[in-house]
Amino acid sequence: MPDTRGGKKPFMPSFYEAACKPFLFRLDPEKAHHLVVGGLGIAGRMPGAGGVLSAVWGVPDIPELAVELFGIRFRHPVGLAAGMDKDAKAVRGFAGIGLAFMEVGTVTPLAQPGNDKPRLFRLPADGALINRMGFNNDGATAMAGRLERLGTRPIPLAINIGKNKATPNEEAEEDYRKCLRMLYPYGDLFVVNVSSPNTPDLRRLQHGDDLRRLLDAVREEIRIQADRQGGPEKPVLVKIAPDNDDEQLEHIARTVAESGIAGIVATNTTVSRERLTDRHAAETGGLSGRPLARRSTEVIRKMYALTEGRLPVIGVGGIFDAADAYEKIRAGASLLEVYTALVYKGPGVVKEICRGLAELLRRDGYARVADAVGADHRQGHR
Ligand code: FNR
Repeated sequence: MPDTRGGKKPFMPSFYEAACKPFLFRLDPEKAHHLVVGGLGIAGRMPGAGGVLSAVWGVPDIPELAVELFGIRFRHPVGLAAGMDKDAKAVRGFAGIGLAFMEVGTVTPLAQPGNDKPRLFRLPADGALINRMGFNNDGATAMAGRLERLGTRPIPLAINIGKNKATPNEEAEEDYRKCLRMLYPYGDLFVVNVSSPNTPDLRRLQHGDDLRRLLDAVREEIRIQADRQGGPEKPVLVKIAPDNDDEQLEHIARTVAESGIAGIVATNTTVSRERLTDRHAAETGGLSGRPLARRSTEVIRKMYALTEGRLPVIGVGGIFDAADAYEKIRAGASLLEVYTALVYKGPGVVKEICRGLAELLRRDGYARVADAVGADHRQGHR
């Protein structure tokens, strides 16, 4: 396997790690989360504050990092994963810290409170989080109102949609359709979430005929909305779990390829608990961060191979530095997303990943990100 790790620089704590993290990590994790997202929401609405955020954390233009996908131009490949800004409260703030695109949501048709607290745990010893939030969100109508007030989107926006907890799986497709009806004008792309471990039975929608029926319904609703609004159909992707076995991944690849879905987001959090040392390891929920990295890359690699590189993959799961990002690109990811690394390393991680990635591409003679996508498959990796 080629050496994908860039030269390590001596460790220098960032402003976030030195000043913000010690304070935030003394707070309850969910309170810290609301403080940060609330703060970014306020900063995004204050005249001039966006410029300050960009001056500190913005990512400079690096032409070789630009990605053109789904008919959308991304300044670089690093975006925000779903679940950080569930209600689209801080889109300008997240754009200000240099992310090239973001997912908002998961949003459900009706507002719902989510699971009982505590439901979010830090595992610092493992560089991980466990969450069992359960799609706490303000509902699709509230999100539509916020995105209407936002006006022009500062970065491409993916709206991640789900079903309410009280909706049985047999009626799930109507929930996804409702989200699309209410939110279609406000997203550049959509992500069908069938992979959260915290809504009972949701992940069953990835399997058997359920997936085909759901994706057919979603595609039909997209067509209806595109007709109504005019313009081409907006792309819709499906987000999958890392806990699918090979047979399940084959089924997903086949179904997705047949259904006109534009791509795959791989992966959501895992219910596996391998190699954890932190005292919170036994908490119920989805595990994210460093322990997820290997499996999510494996799933990206398999989906790329199964679809012969024809279906774009957004890679997410344990990306903490440029080497992690490059590994996922070489395995087959066209775009990337981060969540847990933002908690542990702060907003500077976006710029760090981008700069390091540009160096790694140059080192290996790739003129653009797209040239490195799936490179391992062409060089006989595994
Ligand atoms: C998530 N994630 C998530 N995913 C999703 O599709 N809808 C959601 O609502 C949420 N909510 C959520 C909450 C919390 C607290 C966490 C930590 C994660 C999963 C997330 O988008 C991502 O797929 C995983 O976290 C893996 O990436 P990282 O965190 O390892 O970079």
